[in-house]
Amino acid sequence: MSVSSMMRPARHPDASGPPSGVLWSEACDGLSLRNATFGDGADIWRLVGETGVLDLNSPYAYLMMGNWFADTSVVAAADGRLAGFVMGFSPPRQADTVFVWQVGVAAAMRGRGLGRRMLDALVRRSPGAIRYLEATVTPSNEASEALFRGFARSRAARCAVSDLFPSHAFPTGGHEAERLFRIGPLLPRQQ
Ligand SMILES: CC(C)(COP(=O)(O)OP(=O)(O)OC[C@H]1O[C@@H](n2cnc3c(N)ncnc32)[C@H](O)[C@@H]1OP(=O)(O)O)[C@@H](O)C(=O)NCCC(=O)NCCS
Repeated sequence: MSVSSMMRPARHPDASGPPSGVLWSEACDGLSLRNATFGDGADIWRLVGETGVLDLNSPYAYLMMGNWFADTSVVAAADGRLAGFVMGFSPPRQADTVFVWQVGVAAAMRGRGLGRRMLDALVRRSPGAIRYLEATVTPSNEASEALFRGFARSRAARCAVSDLFPSHAFPTGGHEAERLFRIGPLLPRQQ
């Protein structure tokens, strides 16, 4: 099975042209990186389900993020198929921060630097002067922790880790605690 056939097709309402709502796009190592649109929502929802580790939210949540948080969300595609995504937002009253709500890379594409590249694009393309990147990570998710610590290292930035959501705060039992990773300050010249 080819790499591209192992990834989900990126379907869009207007299949004949570029997806509506594209604000920017860039090519990198055979991949196309661009902002997310609501047309990516269904494929992102499927990819999240396939990871087996990310919380699978409603399809509406992914359409909403692509539609209203396109400025702070990135997708990567290869041969028109979804290879990865980052969905984020700037928290109210924290205009200098982008919070990564979820990030995922198709299994066949992991370990090749795509996660890092999408975080770089997220910070570079987010509107305003982003000085901090935040995300929550569960203690057992080694890949996720490595991704964010590696990103901090590559920017020579501090990575402060603190408790955020304790396990007992989740209404369904068995959810791990979520720790907050706050990375920064990110220097403007590095963006
Ligand atoms: C986490 C995830 C997005 C990383 O994407 P990726 O494209 O494979 O990551 P990269 O190739 O850019 O690697 C980034 C760093 O993480 C390290 N890394 C990647 N996968 C790893 C793993 N399974 N175990 C340990 N380290 C890992 C890389 O070595 C690299 O380290 P470096 O900065 O020191 O070079 C991907 O593994 C994934 O989709 N996992 C399932 C969903 C998930 O857990 N999302 C995060 C929830 S917050």
